[in-house]
Amino acid sequence: MPPAPVRFRDFERIVFFTGAGLSSESGIPTYRGTGGIWKEYDYEDYACQRAFDRDPDKVWDFHDKRRAAVSACAPNEGHRVIASIQASKAGTTIVTQNIDGLHQRAGARDVVELHGSLWRVRCDADGIVRPDTSVPMAPRRCACGAFFRPDIVWFEDALDPRNIRRAQEALTACDLLVSVGTSGVVYPAADLPRIAVMHGAVTVEVNLEDTPVSHFYQHRLRGKASEMLAELAS
Ligand code: APR
Repeated sequence: MPPAPVRFRDFERIVFFTGAGLSSESGIPTYRGTGGIWKEYDYEDYACQRAFDRDPDKVWDFHDKRRAAVSACAPNEGHRVIASIQASKAGTTIVTQNIDGLHQRAGARDVVELHGSLWRVRCDADGIVRPDTSVPMAPRRCACGAFFRPDIVWFEDALDPRNIRRAQEALTACDLLVSVGTSGVVYPAADLPRIAVMHGAVTVEVNLEDTPVSHFYQHRLRGKASEMLAELAS
């Protein structure tokens, strides 16, 4: 007997754990796979603290390209379904690895941005963190003279412990975990879904293909995020 199809209406505390695959349908390239950002750019030259310390202008040029590309894109049906579930179910939490801000532009609130945001900058010299949506980002230097840095969790950066705690609490309490469009290869984010499994949640992986963490998920929906999410919401 095949398991009953999962539907959002049967759950109260849903966690959405999202990756670049969700935003790919908005025209934003993923990181891996065909056309992936890391196929074109070596993150060691553009998206890590060493690269920034070595040549902050080169890193900002790359992030300005990403700002221009992302600002030309719009949230898609998948983002809208997730935002509408959050609006109708108070126990919903959105944990994203994405830095594009499309969840928020679709109306989602209190998004846990595990990997930071393309639309926030900080000055590590005097501890300023502020939203910034300028394209290109300007000014590049803080009033103190130091370069602003994108408030993004780059490779080799530690995640904000407050975000890890928020994600862990939500995954511990949830009755449904829906992973959407992530390759599950970047830790510690990739390890989080294990918490939901350990606490007996129903787990669903939405992806075009299997991933190294597919075995965590009882339900593996293979197809486009926007279509699979619409089906879960039907
Ligand atoms: N619908 C569903 N899944 C999709 C779609 C789609 N339309 N398009 C692509 N995918 C899937 C791919 O099969 C892949 O498994 O989305 C996943 C994208 O994987 P990545 O490009 O690795 O993106 P992500 O998992 O979000 O990367 C995690 O890695 O580079 C770091 O910090 C960066 O947050 C990023 C992290």
